[in-house]
Amino acid sequence: MVATLRDVPVLPDYIDGQTDHDYMHAAWANGPLARDRMGLIRTFPMSLMTEVMDDRWTRQIELESMMVAGVTDGPVYDIIDNVLLFSNGQVHRNRRAPLAKTFAHRIIGELRPGVAARCERMVAALLGQGPVDFVERIASPLPAHVIASVIGAPEDEVEVVARHVYSAIRGLSLVKDDIRAEADRDMGALADYVATLIDRRRADAQDDFLTGFLERVSGGPMDEAEIRTQIMALVLAGSDTTRGALTATVSQLLQNPDQWALLVEDPETHVPGAVSEGLRYDPVIGSLARITTERHEVAGYDLPAGTFIGNCMLTSLRDPEIYADPHRFDITRTDHPRLHPVFGGGPHRCLGEVLARLELEEALKALVRLAPGMVLDGPPAKLRGYGATRVLSPMIVRM
Ligand code: HEM
Repeated sequence: MVATLRDVPVLPDYIDGQTDHDYMHAAWANGPLARDRMGLIRTFPMSLMTEVMDDRWTRQIELESMMVAGVTDGPVYDIIDNVLLFSNGQVHRNRRAPLAKTFAHRIIGELRPGVAARCERMVAALLGQGPVDFVERIASPLPAHVIASVIGAPEDEVEVVARHVYSAIRGLSLVKDDIRAEADRDMGALADYVATLIDRRRADAQDDFLTGFLERVSGGPMDEAEIRTQIMALVLAGSDTTRGALTATVSQLLQNPDQWALLVEDPETHVPGAVSEGLRYDPVIGSLARITTERHEVAGYDLPAGTFIGNCMLTSLRDPEIYADPHRFDITRTDHPRLHPVFGGGPHRCLGEVLARLELEEALKALVRLAPGMVLDGPPAKLRGYGATRVLSPMIVRM
């Protein structure tokens, strides 16, 4: 007999001192699925990630996350309502196609020399300066500057954009009312700013990404709010994720001096592997959630339509079926799947992977070249939580 939703094991109690990885692996030991107190089903092995991302029987969550938070209007609500990430079917295709076509590999590849130079300048300015707040001085500004330059924001306006982005993005998670109010205020400011950039480009076309995007969407199915929101999506999706991934990767490298030494010795060979391994070992994305659109059997359980289901990246990215010695941080491993799972799968797979990798690679190259003796000056940074984008703790280093 096929088991039902009620038979799915409940998540075990958290034991004091367990890391997020320990906890989720303990849950996996009870079976391939677990149910949390809210009724969300979590899946653990990599094989089930593909299953959860399959849009023949699941769909992306739309405004349901706002309903759970009791939010029915405001700037954050408007983003969720209009953005490609939280839409499905034809609406998603209408929003994704112009962005994907304009945000092509060629445009991103051309950014490499500029990103490399920016990384070198950032690192050089911090050498011999005593304790350095890695997140504030490198990991936060880098993605904000890079994506701001892609959308054509002038250098002197980037600081303000970055401040709004990192505040506004908090509104996409379940947060307390005061944080939600700040996030709403800053999301509104970001929306106004992007609208201004769009107006400037319409009045004065250039040979750049934003002009190309606006030409492509002109006369298409998207209204003005949707057009503006897809540009905001790039800024929002590309900042917090890359900041967390860079800090977590450097944190692991500094905790594993043999791996750092390998990278210093031969960056050309090891930088791409270090990036892939950093993204795998302590992933910035904790889970990928969907809603089932029809009754479906998963690992022997019969799940009804309307079930909230999320694949746990902390376990899938350490699945021993895929990765040898999965709990070991090893920048030389050769068993990463061709498409790195941390960037998702199915119709919503990340549009920014090439840019994210480029930023991570150039940042690591600048660090090992200019600051080969870099050390931690306090606890290493950690990513915490099991939700969509995990929360980053600070990290102080000496360079
Ligand atoms: C290490 C950095 C990054 C990671 C780990 C990451 C991961 C992801 C994941 C897992 C998704 C799919 C979410 C889902 O299916 O629910 C996604 C979507 C997306 N990402 Fe990224 N991302 C990163 C950086 C970036 C950057 C730099 C950009 C662009 C500047 C970007 C733009 C997007 C966009 C636009 C989507 C929505 C795609 C869609 O819904 O069709 N990401 N990302």
